[in-house]
Amino acid sequence: MFARKYSVFQIGDIAVLRQVTRPDKVWLSKPLKPGSSQGVKSGSISHDDIIGTRSRCQVFETSKGQFKFMCYKPSLEEYVNLTKRDAQPIYPFNAATIVQLADLNVDYPELEKKQNGEYCLKDEPLQFLECGTGHGSLTLAIAKAIHSGNCYKNLNGLGSSQLLGAILHSIDRNPNHLATGQKNLKNYQRAMYENDVQFHLADSPSQWLQSPSTKQWIKNSSNNNDPVYDHPSSFLSGIFLDMPDPETQFKDLSLHLKVDHALIIFCPSVTQILNAVQTVYYDRSIKLAFSRCVEFEPCTSGGSLREWDVRVSGIRNTNKEGAVCRPRVGTKVSGGGFAGVFKKLPVTARLEPTGTSLNQPVNL
Ligand SMILES: C[S@@+](CC[C@H](N)C(=O)[O-])C[C@H]1O[C@@H](n2cnc3c(N)ncnc32)[C@H](O)[C@@H]1O
Repeated sequence: MFARKYSVFQIGDIAVLRQVTRPDKVWLSKPLKPGSSQGVKSGSISHDDIIGTRSRCQVFETSKGQFKFMCYKPSLEEYVNLTKRDAQPIYPFNAATIVQLADLNVDYPELEKKQNGEYCLKDEPLQFLECGTGHGSLTLAIAKAIHSGNCYKNLNGLGSSQLLGAILHSIDRNPNHLATGQKNLKNYQRAMYENDVQFHLADSPSQWLQSPSTKQWIKNSSNNNDPVYDHPSSFLSGIFLDMPDPETQFKDLSLHLKVDHALIIFCPSVTQILNAVQTVYYDRSIKLAFSRCVEFEPCTSGGSLREWDVRVSGIRNTNKEGAVCRPRVGTKVSGGGFAGVFKKLPVTARLEPTGTSLNQPVNL
């Protein structure tokens, strides 16, 4: 939640209104707009009253004055879980873990000064691919990780995209889901991460890679001596797939992935991970090595964490205060899932047929 310039509510911010006496009752506002209001229990609270106040510093009442509400900025977890959904999101803590599994380290890009005084990037921008966009939860988690690559985006003037050092391409075949993901990215922290992501409508990652408009992103890397570019069209530094049958995309995607970089799939069922592992094992034209599979357990919080109920509470029988300390029950249980991590091998790897040798390493 905390970021420079973001502690006072401004137009465009999103607010959480929490009923003071019932902390489980929360409402997520639309982006704050003069003249608008947010409906809560027994009335509404005007956006004008919220704008200009500091997060969590003021208690609000509805015009009827029946209930009191604390107003604060949502965490990413609250934001993702409270926004209306068209597609099932990856829960925020799980999305963050998936990004960690990819081990992204995005630095500030190196710049060069041109003769006209403008700056340009010394190297190509780092590019990442995600399919599908869905609710935009994983999109936000990846955008957070690559954001520093775009620290110079306004150096040549506002609105110029020449200095983007890290770009996430997020594709979905459903225009409504794509629009929702795009809106959720834009409404979070007043569009702070908007420049980090390019959204594309496409029927599949393979179709997107072949479309003429994608050619501008695939810079021919044949002249690049860095061995991570083992194919003229390798340009992706990470791939994230949350879609059915992800293994159908492996062949095309692996050609476009840089060597030793990660392709991660998220699946509700472990048998889907097994399908992907088998595909890679038997089809040696796919230049990927299976690395690991991890489980996200079903849980009661915004990811696979076990939430505990820890509080001081009045004990009815004794009229004294006591401690409650136990795993939280009764809240919404979210589904778990599995992440499979694959790493790109050089195009020259895995040339021989699989055969039936049991001595063959499974992940090569
Ligand atoms: C479970 S949702 C993704 C949720 C997203 N990862 C998030 O965290 O919010 C799956 C999405 O994949 C999209 N999808 C499914 N198959 C696809 C395909 N072949 N190409 C592009 N998008 C696809 C669906 O339209 C849907 O929006």
